[in-house]
Amino acid sequence: MSTEYRSPEGWTLAIVPDIAAMSARAADRVEATLRDNPGAVISLPTGTTPLHLFDILAARVARGELDFSHADFYCLDDYLGLRGDDPHSLTHWLREALIARVNLAPSHVHEVPAAAPDPDVEAANYDRDLAEHGGLDLAVVGIGPNGHVAFNEPGAESTSRTRVVDLKPETIAQATAYWQHAHAMPSKAMTIGIANLLEARQIVLIASGAAKARAIQQALEGPIGPVLPASFLRRAGSRLEVILDEAAAADLTVFPTAGIRERNGGESHGRATGVAATPADPSL
Ligand code: PGA
Repeated sequence: MSTEYRSPEGWTLAIVPDIAAMSARAADRVEATLRDNPGAVISLPTGTTPLHLFDILAARVARGELDFSHADFYCLDDYLGLRGDDPHSLTHWLREALIARVNLAPSHVHEVPAAAPDPDVEAANYDRDLAEHGGLDLAVVGIGPNGHVAFNEPGAESTSRTRVVDLKPETIAQATAYWQHAHAMPSKAMTIGIANLLEARQIVLIASGAAKARAIQQALEGPIGPVLPASFLRRAGSRLEVILDEAAAADLTVFPTAGIRERNGGESHGRATGVAATPADPSL
């Protein structure tokens, strides 16, 4: 069961019951991308949100239903100064959580050059390398409680590209909670930019849980701008699909009251049409 909308801005929103349904739908998007284009260039996020998605992708690869062997994978972000084999790097985390479990070719995994001696030069090279690979076919991204996407923190501009950024205190605190033992968290990171993401042929934004409800409401219903960087994703129009579980969607107000909702009666992959006008559902 999913509830689907098409925003007047052209992007689609699917609200599904829980993280399992969110993950399955996002996995279907990855699978469809690779079926259409086995050599697709893709990004998947770090964090707790995609963990179940990774389990589904790994299981589909193990069953021979999904093949990453021709795909290219671009990491989205990492802490400045940490190499990909550092156990505290996001790249290392991603290698364990996903890359080691699917059949990506090692030479097709592109790490953010966060430990490069000249990070600014290498960040520009990362963008050039991505452009030479044709840009992203599919970017699956999460959202931080402060509205960041990758490590594009509040203040990031829509024209931003891969670069070094300062992390906000709340992001450092969020990251500290991921680690079971204390260690000094870097206060800087390297992240792919908003412009890199907006150029992707397809963008899927996933969010789960009540802790994301406020950021989601502001990102989808507030003004588009650097205060909530994830809001810029709406500029992708029909290339953006937002997949939320009900808890993450709980603060949305515009969609029901604007009369653009469509309940598609249990078909989980129906197209949102923007046809409207069922009354607002207080259960949203
Ligand atoms: P989370 O992180 O999936 O752990 O909530 C998402 C993010 O901060 O982008």
